[in-house]
Amino acid sequence: MKQEIAPRQSALRFAFSRPGFCTFRLPDGATADPARAVTATFARTSGVSLGKVSGGDPAELARALCAAIDERLPESPRHVHIWRRDRALPGDPGFDPNDAAAQRSAVLEVRPGLVLNEHAAADDAIVDCVIVEPNEWWLGWHRASGAVPESRWPGGVPNIAAPAGMISRAYLKMTEALLWSELPVEAGDRCVEIGSAPGGSCLALLERGCAVTGLDPAEMDPTVLAHPRFTFVRARAKDAKRSVFDGCRWLVSDANVAPTYTLDTVEPIVTAAGARVEGLLLTLKLTDPRHAARLPAFEARVRGWGYRRVHTRQLALNRQEVCLAATDRRLVSSRE
Ligand SMILES: C[S@@+](CC[C@H](N)C(=O)[O-])C[C@H]1O[C@@H](n2cnc3c(N)ncnc32)[C@H](O)[C@@H]1O
Repeated sequence: MKQEIAPRQSALRFAFSRPGFCTFRLPDGATADPARAVTATFARTSGVSLGKVSGGDPAELARALCAAIDERLPESPRHVHIWRRDRALPGDPGFDPNDAAAQRSAVLEVRPGLVLNEHAAADDAIVDCVIVEPNEWWLGWHRASGAVPESRWPGGVPNIAAPAGMISRAYLKMTEALLWSELPVEAGDRCVEIGSAPGGSCLALLERGCAVTGLDPAEMDPTVLAHPRFTFVRARAKDAKRSVFDGCRWLVSDANVAPTYTLDTVEPIVTAAGARVEGLLLTLKLTDPRHAARLPAFEARVRGWGYRRVHTRQLALNRQEVCLAATDRRLVSSRE
C-alpha cells in the first residue's frame, strides 16, 4: 500500500504505522479532504486523523473517544465505526475486524444516541475508531460517498452474514465483490465462472437469480450441481468449447493461477467476434507479492478490451489476491 501511494501522493510522508494500520503526514499548511483521503487498492478505508486516545479499559477509552469527538471534529456525527486493525489474514483464526462488541457497548454507555457500525448513507460524517492496541484507539473521520460503497461500511468491510452450511468462503467474497463493484447483475443474467469449485461464489450468483455455468477441473459441491439454473463444465477454461461462453453477460474468474494466466485466459473470450461480456469480476492471485506493482498494467490491459471502468481492490475477504472489476464496455470495433 505504501508503494502504491508513494508515487501518486508524493506530498504524503509516512508516519506512525503498525501492520494493518498506516498514517501519513501532510505538508505544513495542507488540508486533507475527508470525502476521499486516500484511495488505493490496498487501503480498505481511509480518513483524516484526529489523533489517538489512551486508557486502561474500554469505559475509560470510550469517555476519551466521546470527549475527542466533541473537541476535535468540525461537526457532530451520527455514525461511529469501531474496528480492529488486521492482525491475521482473512480466513485465518483471529481475523475479525468487527470483533469489538465490548468497545461498542462501552461507547453506547457514554453516548446512547450514536449509531455504531451500521452502513452509512451518502454524505454522512463517520468517525473511524481503530483499535490499534487494546489500550490505544486511533481516531479519524471521513465523509461517506454515494459513489464509493466501501466508504459507507465499517472499516471498509460490508456487514455480510455467512449462511448456514456455507460451501466456501468464496460465497462471502463474491457477495462483497458484487456490493463493491455495483455491477448491475440481475435475475436471469448468464454468468460464467472460471475456477468454480467447490461453488460458494456460484451459489451467491444463483441466489441472485442468475443462470450460472461453472468451469473447473475439480469437483463441485452437490448442492450447486443440483441447482436447476446451474451448468457444470468439468474442464480447464482453455480446454472448454467457445460455445460455453455464448450469451455470457458477466464473466467471473477465481482460478488459482498467476494474474497473467487469468488475463491470457479471459482475453480471447471477451474479444471473440460476437462476444458481449458486459462486465468482469476477476480474482488476481498475487502469487508473487511483486505482482502488486503490475496492477496498473493489468488494469490497462483490461481497458484495452473496451472496458472503460476498471478498478482493483483487495477486498476484506481477499487473502493474497485482489479483485478486478471491469464494466462500462465499448465494443472494440476492430475485433467486431
Ligand atoms: C479458489 S478455488 C475457487 C473457489 C470457487 N470460486 C468457489 O466459489 O468455491 C480455485 C479453483 O480454480 C480451479 N482452476 C485452476 N486453474 C484453472 C483453469 N485453468 N481453469 C478452470 N479452473 C481452474 C481449481 O481447480 C480450483 O478449484
